[in-house]
Amino acid sequence: MILNGDALTILPTLPAASVDIVVTDPPFAIEFSGTPANYNRNDANVIEGYHEISQSEYPAFTRSWVQEAWRVLKPNGCMYIVSGWSNLNDILTAVKEVGFTTVNHVIWQFQFGVFTRNKYVSSHYHVLFVVKNPRHYTYHLECRHPLSERTKDGRSANYADREDVWYIPREFWPGQKKTATKLPEALVEKILAYSSSPGDVVLDPFLGSGTVGVVAQRMGRRWIGIEIVDAYAEFAADRVKA
Ligand SMILES: C[S@@+](CC[C@H](N)C(=O)[O-])C[C@H]1O[C@@H](n2cnc3c(N)ncnc32)[C@H](O)[C@@H]1O
Repeated sequence: MILNGDALTILPTLPAASVDIVVTDPPFAIEFSGTPANYNRNDANVIEGYHEISQSEYPAFTRSWVQEAWRVLKPNGCMYIVSGWSNLNDILTAVKEVGFTTVNHVIWQFQFGVFTRNKYVSSHYHVLFVVKNPRHYTYHLECRHPLSERTKDGRSANYADREDVWYIPREFWPGQKKTATKLPEALVEKILAYSSSPGDVVLDPFLGSGTVGVVAQRMGRRWIGIEIVDAYAEFAADRVKA
């Protein structure tokens, strides 16, 4: 289900303790515009309207939605937040102050960052895995690889999959309509496999192009996505239908 509007207005209308897992990458507060200059792509294919938050508003904005995430999550619920490093401190602070326990701080490495000459190319995001109750949360140890499985070079496939640095390429959608930024489906699939079960309720308060909804639906989870930009919400609805 897609709810088109402001997450800060819509989240308080959702019932308390009704969601099993929140998976989201919130706006970045880096004056991101989603223009072609960001990724050297054909702007005709990029749907306009990305909604950014100013840096001065970011701490209060983050605190508000993280507090709501806590309220709507079930007592054994968890949350995965994807963030760049620029304003990660605001997210870490909110998560801690609201009461979540951090289980893992995953690094997601991808294959292209913005080319730079005077500093290193930034090619990773942070993925915070946080829970309400550190003694009771969903984690399916063997959901992708049994403990007995070996990789071609003789390592444990299970161990390799569960190390906290994930290399997952970003998706290219050449010649197709797209929003300014989106998560790869493989990243969301991995998160939902380990930390949710069929029938669970998945929430993404910042749905964008709808990736979390698309993957949740394919994996037999129920889902709610909130998106403030009308054209993005429509695009996400079409993607889910397709
Ligand atoms: C980083 S993008 C999410 C991308 C998404 N994960 C995907 O795979 O397409 C953040 C999204 O949050 C939306 N957004 C920003 N502020 C919002 C708010 N207050 N309520 C709901 N959505 C908001 C932006 O328009 C943008 O689509």
